[in-house]
Amino acid sequence: MPRVLTALAVVLLVAAGVTAEEKPTDAFKKAMQDTANAMRTIRAAAKEIEDSGSGAQDYMPFETATATLQASFATTLAFWESRKTDDAVKLTKDAARFATDLEKAAKDTEYRLVLDAIAGLDKTCASCHAAHRVRLDDGTYEIK
Ligand code: HEC
Repeated sequence: MPRVLTALAVVLLVAAGVTAEEKPTDAFKKAMQDTANAMRTIRAAAKEIEDSGSGAQDYMPFETATATLQASFATTLAFWESRKTDDAVKLTKDAARFATDLEKAAKDTEYRLVLDAIAGLDKTCASCHAAHRVRLDDGTYEIK
């Protein structure tokens, strides 16, 4: 009997370890907030281009914003790799690739490709948040 209980306790502990939610570190949180700010800059720049028609189109804002994205994704990638969360590692790598695509599209002033890269980025945010972000009652988030 005690042995069964011990086995059960081990199973429960392992299960708890696998599903545990944790508070993000300040670095992780900052990476996400920087990411969100960069995406705001990117959206504003895309809208600006759409509104301006031909001529005075400014692709410069994408350069600093994609650099910010790369730095933030590097921080979050290290986190997911150390945690061995394979799907999140993949999503972060996908996100970094879309940021690279966006940077290139902006350099080439290819507006359609800029929009494609933004759509790709948006998908990675949504997929990862659905799988790994938990919203608490106080409006803050945890990682699962
Ligand atoms: C691979 C997973 C992953 C990807 C990709 C990802 N996020 Fe997150 N994000 C999280 C997790 C987990 C949290 C919850 C922890 C936290 O709040 O920092 C979070 C939290 C956030 C927050 C709240 C930060 C806070 O104040 O606590 C914002 C804003 C955010 N993400 C924006 C984005 C945007 C925009 C993208 C896409 C360009 C994105 N994220 C891509 C996992 C991800």
